[in-house]
Amino acid sequence: MFPKGEPFRQDRDDSQSIRAPARARDVQQAIAELEPWFHNLHLPDGSQTAPDHWLGDFPTYKWLEIAPHLPVNLDGWCALDIGCNAGFYSFELARRGARITAIDSNPHYLAQARWAAVQYGLERRIEFQRMQVYDLARSRERFDLVLFLGVFYHLRYPLLGLDIVAQRTARLMVFQTMTMPGEEVFEDTSNLDFNDRELMRHPGWPKLAFIEHRLANDPTNWWAANHAGVEAMLRSSGFRVVARPGAETYLCEPDPENSSCTTTWDRTEFDAATGLAWTDSARNGS
Ligand SMILES: C[S@@+](CC[C@H](N)C(=O)[O-])C[C@H]1O[C@@H](n2cnc3c(N)ncnc32)[C@H](O)[C@@H]1O
Repeated sequence: MFPKGEPFRQDRDDSQSIRAPARARDVQQAIAELEPWFHNLHLPDGSQTAPDHWLGDFPTYKWLEIAPHLPVNLDGWCALDIGCNAGFYSFELARRGARITAIDSNPHYLAQARWAAVQYGLERRIEFQRMQVYDLARSRERFDLVLFLGVFYHLRYPLLGLDIVAQRTARLMVFQTMTMPGEEVFEDTSNLDFNDRELMRHPGWPKLAFIEHRLANDPTNWWAANHAGVEAMLRSSGFRVVARPGAETYLCEPDPENSSCTTTWDRTEFDAATGLAWTDSARNGS
């Protein structure tokens, strides 16, 4: 979601504009030049990038929920931060010793993140790349830890995005998405009879509500799942949920006993949807 009341913007690339750590007055100026901020970063000189954030001290309070569920020492871990925004979570993981690949589709946020990394002296531990989540389909790299926070509901093709991310996850994924209210879970969804579809109206049936226009004035909010829907999609993409660190937040591991169909009987659909089928056939000359 974008800052409340701020226009949706995909076009600005400030990535080259500010490089070196700056003095206090310069820091204030840079913060102003790089507005609007979605992450309230607490910078080394005591300044904050979004002290009046409509969500409070975001995402510090969210990190305080997640942090106890991750190893304190991430030395030797490689992590992927999808939709890194201004880099808050990348900086926290880097401080624990991980090497980070941080991606975002929006150059404005990447410019903030690159600038902030320099302020913290963490720029050598984090590689920032302007990428769509879908671009990860063409990578062969797998990451020990993947953060997939606040992005799923922005995807027009959410399950494709999740399937792609699953194939990049080696050990742990932290997943957060905007949900609709309700914690109910309809237990047996294994093979509904054609004439029993009324059961889908049960509040615990896995659901994904489509947002045709806007939610909170943001046209990139496409989907809101219910809790049962989140868990069902995570399972279907080959994960198992091992903890729930906070509201709408799920800690997951790849589940070797429940492989995703995208790695077995439905691989051809995944390859076609990601363009991998075309790439392979072009490479093989067929
Ligand atoms: C609501 S913010 C979440 C930021 C951060 N992950 C967090 O949880 O605080 C969504 C971020 O995802 C990025 N984003 C949206 N669609 C994306 C896509 N298809 N691929 C990569 N990043 C995307 C946006 O530019 C934005 O920085």
